[in-house]
Amino acid sequence: MQKPKYKRVVLKLSGEALAGDQGYGISHEIINSIAKQVVEVVKLGVEVAIVVGGGNIWRGVAGSARGMDRATADYMGMLATVINALALQDALEKLGIETRVMSAIEMKEIAEPYIRRRAIRHLEKGRVVIFAAGTGNPYFSTDTAAALRSAEIEAEVILMAKKVDGVYDSDPLKNPNAKKFTDLEYIEVLNKGLGVMDSTATSLCMDNKIPIIVFDLTKNGNILRAVMGEEIGTYVGR
Ligand code: GTP
Repeated sequence: MQKPKYKRVVLKLSGEALAGDQGYGISHEIINSIAKQVVEVVKLGVEVAIVVGGGNIWRGVAGSARGMDRATADYMGMLATVINALALQDALEKLGIETRVMSAIEMKEIAEPYIRRRAIRHLEKGRVVIFAAGTGNPYFSTDTAAALRSAEIEAEVILMAKKVDGVYDSDPLKNPNAKKFTDLEYIEVLNKGLGVMDSTATSLCMDNKIPIIVFDLTKNGNILRAVMGEEIGTYVGR
């Protein structure tokens, strides 16, 4: 049987990805289907860490746009990611996979505190590690948390789950002539302002040479395809 291309990956899930068509909260159907996809790759021996967003519950940027203090709004967003992390933990453990939620903000009753060496140990033991509470700092997105944690745990790639099958030169949902990129350099993402990740996260990936694969999570089996090295979505690197 073919071997996976990657041994250790970070899967970045946006909060919205968990909401499904309802657009808000957590869809059990969606979270279970994501969990099934994750289990497929864990069973191949791939070490999987997940960074989850919180936008299905609360968006810090939106809160601050409505006049709320930005730092407070961002902390609320970090708490939202913890809710999502616990839901993912539950869905994965129902499928028989061991998981550990590690939070960047200490809340010992709910999750382990984030300790880099411990996170690596969990991965080596085949546990899925779910990183919650972003980086623990306001003004930093969960995309930046994904880039930071990937660098820290020496992940080989970030799998950026989206609702579209890659990066386009304009919004494919609005422009039927939008062109899809199969390969991009980090600097092109920054210069062209492409919506892969925010610029802080992209820069961190560029400086630490962490490739990013942007792919469509809604297509079943895509996490497995990405891990096996199939060319899906858009590859950002080089
Ligand atoms: P190993 O030592 O590698 O076997 O790791 P382990 O995570 O199984 O050991 P540990 O005894 O540290 O943890 C047992 C359980 O307690 C796991 O489910 C952990 O997620 C959980 N746990 C450990 N530390 C904390 C913590 O600070 N807070 C919370 N809420 N749970 C914790």
